[in-house]
Amino acid sequence: MNEKVVKSSSSNRTVTLVDNATGREFSFPVISGSVGPDVIDLRNLYQDTGFFTFDPGYTSTGSCESAITFIDGNEGTLLYRGYPIQDLAEHSDFMEACYLLLYGDLPNAEQKRRFEHDITYHTMLHEQMHEFYDGFRRDSHPMAVMVGVVGALSAFYHDSTDITNPRHRMIASYRMIAKMPTIAAWAYKYAIGQPFIYPRNELKYSENFLHMLFANPCEPYVINPVLARALDRILILHADHEQNASTSTVRLAGSSGANPFACIAAGIASLWGPAHGGANEAVLRMLEEIGDKSRVPEYVKRAKDPDDPFRLMGFGHRVYKNYDPRARIMRQTCYEVLDELGVRDEPLLELAMSLENIALDDEFFVKKKLYPNVDFYSGIIFKAMGIPLSMFTVLFAVARTVGWVAQWNEMIEDPTQKIGRPRQLYTGATRREYKLLAQRA
Ligand code: ACO
Repeated sequence: MNEKVVKSSSSNRTVTLVDNATGREFSFPVISGSVGPDVIDLRNLYQDTGFFTFDPGYTSTGSCESAITFIDGNEGTLLYRGYPIQDLAEHSDFMEACYLLLYGDLPNAEQKRRFEHDITYHTMLHEQMHEFYDGFRRDSHPMAVMVGVVGALSAFYHDSTDITNPRHRMIASYRMIAKMPTIAAWAYKYAIGQPFIYPRNELKYSENFLHMLFANPCEPYVINPVLARALDRILILHADHEQNASTSTVRLAGSSGANPFACIAAGIASLWGPAHGGANEAVLRMLEEIGDKSRVPEYVKRAKDPDDPFRLMGFGHRVYKNYDPRARIMRQTCYEVLDELGVRDEPLLELAMSLENIALDDEFFVKKKLYPNVDFYSGIIFKAMGIPLSMFTVLFAVARTVGWVAQWNEMIEDPTQKIGRPRQLYTGATRREYKLLAQRA
């Protein structure tokens, strides 16, 4: 493990809570991580005081200890195992980022070769899964297919579902990272009625994914290295993001001892929502709806109206109150892809730029610290690459799989891990007498 990783430490510092009704005082220890805000250890709160905390949306709650990803939302910093996302996007590749997230350190040349080999040789799906797709309607949303097929992996690979066995856990993790592009590409092929394309072992991860998405048996498919590199970079940028909604869903599902395939299927379901991974699809739908630069002010006005539920998709983030560092890289990648494909004067990009400029200058957005997030540009890149709208969130799921499995493994190995079980502030009826049907008015 990286020597810069430190276990959390308790100092002598405490925080005191005073109940002004009774005058009783309760002290709670403060714990420090390696970087980032300290936390108040409230594990004994209920036992010591009889109170629960109330924090809907967990805006102030740390749910676990983790040594995987660090975000400083005010500074716009994102680190995977201590490495800045900018460095990884520029110098690394997705396989290396996967190794880093799973094992805690960058691989040496032999470790990388071995890892890539092992992932490559797990990319094929059990042949019977082929038939599993036939159960879906052709017009199913590919995310619906993803939830179903990934959940079904536990029915096909039960030889790696003993979560108490570290080898089973690692095999299941490799299987999911390896098979996710195949599952995703087949969901797409099924929707458009083309034959499924099998993985090819001489191709790199992102090349193979493009091949399975776009090749057909009738003609050779030539991989464009600029597009393969752009896809690889997008996968790096989306690989992990600490305790977001889908990752917390994976952890919560896994905390009961559920098998890893079922947990990742739960994560995919959570990612689907437009406030999370579904935002890249929503951005493009929004840009298409706006249609023309001249209508941007009208939509900005709507986004600011408290009585209008409309929000600018691709803006705002629970954690980033500064420019999302991934959005900057994505913006650059977007230009590279459009340039390579000879897409000049792409109207959607022009519209996106105009929206970005107006929103970044607008007092409402500046005051609320609403900056473009990673999804603002990814949709434009995917569209230019010929990836259909309904597949956008699927690509996010492929990338995030490694983050989910790394976080799931970390949780299972944590000796303090307990089943996740939040409490509530009950506001329903108090105890009342049951009336027989004949006695009810
Ligand atoms: N457009 C207009 N107003 C917004 C937007 C937006 N995109 N985002 C937030 N606001 C406003 C809210 O109305 C709220 O205003 P208020 O204080 O007057 O009530 C304020 O900014 C704070 O917003 P919250 O929703 O309370 O912030 P939260 O942290 O809960 O939500 C979220 C973050 C869900 C990402 C939100 O900004 C949003 O809906 N954005 C659009 C969807 C999107 O792009 N999601 C992708 C997220 S990144 C990812 O998952 C990879």
